[in-house]
Amino acid sequence: MELTFGDVQETALIPLAIKASETSRANARIVDPMAKQIIEVLGVDVSKYDPFLSHEGVVARTIMYRKELQNLIDKYPDALCINLGCGFDDKFSQVDNGQITWFDVDLPDQIEKRRKVYSDRARCTMLAGSALDSDWTTQLPKHDMNIIVMEGVLEYFTKDQVKKCINMLCDNFEHGYLLAELHSPFLEKNGRHHDAVKYTNASFGWGTKSGREYLELEPRMSLISETSYNEEMKKYSIRGKLFAILGKNLNNRLAVFQW
Ligand SMILES: C[S@@+](CC[C@H](N)C(=O)[O-])C[C@H]1O[C@@H](n2cnc3c(N)ncnc32)[C@H](O)[C@@H]1O
Repeated sequence: MELTFGDVQETALIPLAIKASETSRANARIVDPMAKQIIEVLGVDVSKYDPFLSHEGVVARTIMYRKELQNLIDKYPDALCINLGCGFDDKFSQVDNGQITWFDVDLPDQIEKRRKVYSDRARCTMLAGSALDSDWTTQLPKHDMNIIVMEGVLEYFTKDQVKKCINMLCDNFEHGYLLAELHSPFLEKNGRHHDAVKYTNASFGWGTKSGREYLELEPRMSLISETSYNEEMKKYSIRGKLFAILGKNLNNRLAVFQW
């Protein structure tokens, strides 16, 4: 039977398709054997979700998130890490140091699909929950340091929802870092032309020019760094270089917040 996805849930097929296709390339910049396997097991046709700019963006963000996450895990080797809005991502395998405790959290229907292709592993557990409420957080063990990864999730939230989410994180985790993907007001207005998201029913939410706009919604957070995906994308192709010049402020950014 064909799988049906909710509007935002379907966007998880975009990074999945891109990670699988990059993995099959000669000189792949990221290697994700699980992505290929998941597509086979779920039997989904993901061919339309892999256009050039999205492909390069997802490769860039995967590399950038992994580096940031590895740096934080080196600093806090027994942190609690939460991949909030995990979709089908397998980041745990890429950064596991044998000590971290990891939770993959997503909406209940998405976790149900994830369970078709993943099992819970030692120190890596799936949990149904929403970034917009705190019910699921009561099931987590207490750790001194909490690292929350949100890759391609906040982009779909309204400003009120972003506020709700980041207030919830600060209320429920005493100390933490948030790795967040931010997008521009341009994309908020023109998202229907996005080369991959246009094939889904999802629409972009609140876009920002700077991660500092988050601090007005959650003063307990400070902004540690903010880097455009252009910085990674421009290393690999002429088109990536051109986009970094012409679309200087248009690309998504990885922002790291601390509280
Ligand atoms: C573009 S996908 C990104 C998936 C994954 N982070 C990745 O990079 O491969 C967006 C994900 O956010 C999840 N999501 C949307 N709203 C959510 C919410 N309120 N709480 C938790 N997850 C949510 C969707 O179900 C989907 O899996």
